[in-house]
Amino acid sequence: MKNNRLTVAIPKGRNLRPTVELFRRIGIDFSSALEENRKLIFKDEKTGASGIIVRDTDIPAYVEGGAADMGVSGKDQIEEQEKQLYEMLDLGFGYCRLVLAEPKALKENDDPSRWTHIRVATKFTNLTAKYFLSRGIHAEVIKLYGSIEIAPIVGLSERIVDLVSTGNTLKANGLVEVETIMEVTARLVVNRASLKTKRERIGGVVRRMEEEIRKNPIKD
Ligand code: PRP
Repeated sequence: MKNNRLTVAIPKGRNLRPTVELFRRIGIDFSSALEENRKLIFKDEKTGASGIIVRDTDIPAYVEGGAADMGVSGKDQIEEQEKQLYEMLDLGFGYCRLVLAEPKALKENDDPSRWTHIRVATKFTNLTAKYFLSRGIHAEVIKLYGSIEIAPIVGLSERIVDLVSTGNTLKANGLVEVETIMEVTARLVVNRASLKTKRERIGGVVRRMEEEIRKNPIKD
């Protein structure tokens, strides 16, 4: 018999709970992902689907590599990493924005239309480089892996590009938004080969998810 069972990459962090809720609604139970037992792989006995919990930044790699048939990834990572996968659905939850920010004091006398060269710290080096290239500004992009908001405070860069949700982190560190680079929500991504070999199974999942979200959006 053809193996029609699904492996799903589920993100750790803020999209974990809404992802589990989304699959629950279409009849796949990954609720053990919410238990704090450090287990990273589990099975839904009813459908035979497996869930693997990985870092949100690693979802595109697992799906592109075929280790997972599908996964839930932020639009930010999809665009940043440019992996070979299909983006099937906007899931609506996990809304945040990728923004350019700078210290409040700098903003008071700043004129973005006069920028020719800027230094920016970010986790999103590709998106940042592309954004400034498209605006004809030479950007020196410094790659960091976390605590981006510190960079302007200690003089590593004048500005940062980072995700903003409530805005609390920027505020707490004396930073203000200058521009929004992109709006982000969670997306359902699918492995290219799986879409062919498990077409009916995946098609069914996508259709049911679409219906569920339309009827009743998933809250963060
Ligand atoms: C993200 C982002 C900001 C913060 C913004 O970090 O990098 O630091 O959230 O959220 P806010 O606007 O609600 O304050 P996250 O918590 O995902 O941790 P990370 O920096 O380790 O990725």
